[in-house]
Amino acid sequence: MISMLAFQPLAGGSGTTTLTVNYASAIATANTGLRVLLLDLNLQFGGVGLHLNLPETLKIVDAYARLGSLDHDGFRACLQKSSDNLSVFTAPAEVLPLDAVNPTHLRHLISLARANSDVLVIDLPLAVTDWSAEIWKRADYLALNGTLDVRSAAGLRRLSDLAGRDLLQSAHCHILLNRVAGRRSSSWQEEYQAFTRPLARKAPKLLPEGGPGVTAALAAGQSLPRFQPQNPLAETILREISLLTFTNPGGAARPAPSGKSA
Ligand SMILES: Nc1ncnc2c1ncn2[C@@H]1O[C@H](COP(=O)(O)OP(=O)(O)O)[C@@H](O)[C@H]1O
Ligand SMILES: [Mg+2]
Repeated sequence: MISMLAFQPLAGGSGTTTLTVNYASAIATANTGLRVLLLDLNLQFGGVGLHLNLPETLKIVDAYARLGSLDHDGFRACLQKSSDNLSVFTAPAEVLPLDAVNPTHLRHLISLARANSDVLVIDLPLAVTDWSAEIWKRADYLALNGTLDVRSAAGLRRLSDLAGRDLLQSAHCHILLNRVAGRRSSSWQEEYQAFTRPLARKAPKLLPEGGPGVTAALAAGQSLPRFQPQNPLAETILREISLLTFTNPGGAARPAPSGKSA
């Protein structure tokens, strides 16, 4: 049962925010009985709000300034609705230092987010912080997202060195290879072999190139499944979502599974 998903980029610009937003949106659309919450933890240049056409609010800056004492009402006051069952806690409208959030405060923010949702979806920054590893471990579905290039391959190797190969091999960890072209050349196959070598038997999930429609959806401030449901990226995300089992409504009241306490 999945109640927390986290998306970690392997390289900048590889489409992590696009995938995070579209997964969250697809989960909300496919599970109307679940309260889905999208949390943008890019403390400096977070773009989830832009993807969903949500205004910047100073409430988020205030919330981070008093994160340790933020209560449920204060947290809920920061949420913006993207659809009936999708709420968003956007990034601050100002650039915050990466060490503005200490792990204790971050734990508090996550517990507020979990208590106010059934499924929590987190957009993580490229920069590894002193709270990243905790989220990698606690997520029920951890997506490491890159594209087939040397930057993402280097990102995967560095992350594996940092977090340990066990994390990469664990069942909750998924490697997403974004912007895969429909026609794959022999040089693509060679690059793919090189990219997947550190993964042993774990095969990445391939997310297709969605063409200009993906950026057009972003410009329109709409999720891709809503803006262009026939887009190959939207179809692939909807298919992936249909294979996952999410927590039951009211799941926030459930005791947390052992080893992944909230
Ligand atoms: N599968 C895809 N097909 C086409 N365009 C994509 C795809 N994924 C991402 N993009 C585009 O790539 C750009 C960067 O995406 P973004 O999500 O902001 O990257 P990141 O969060 O990793 O920095 C955006 O213009 C987005 O529309
Ligand atoms: Mg991003």
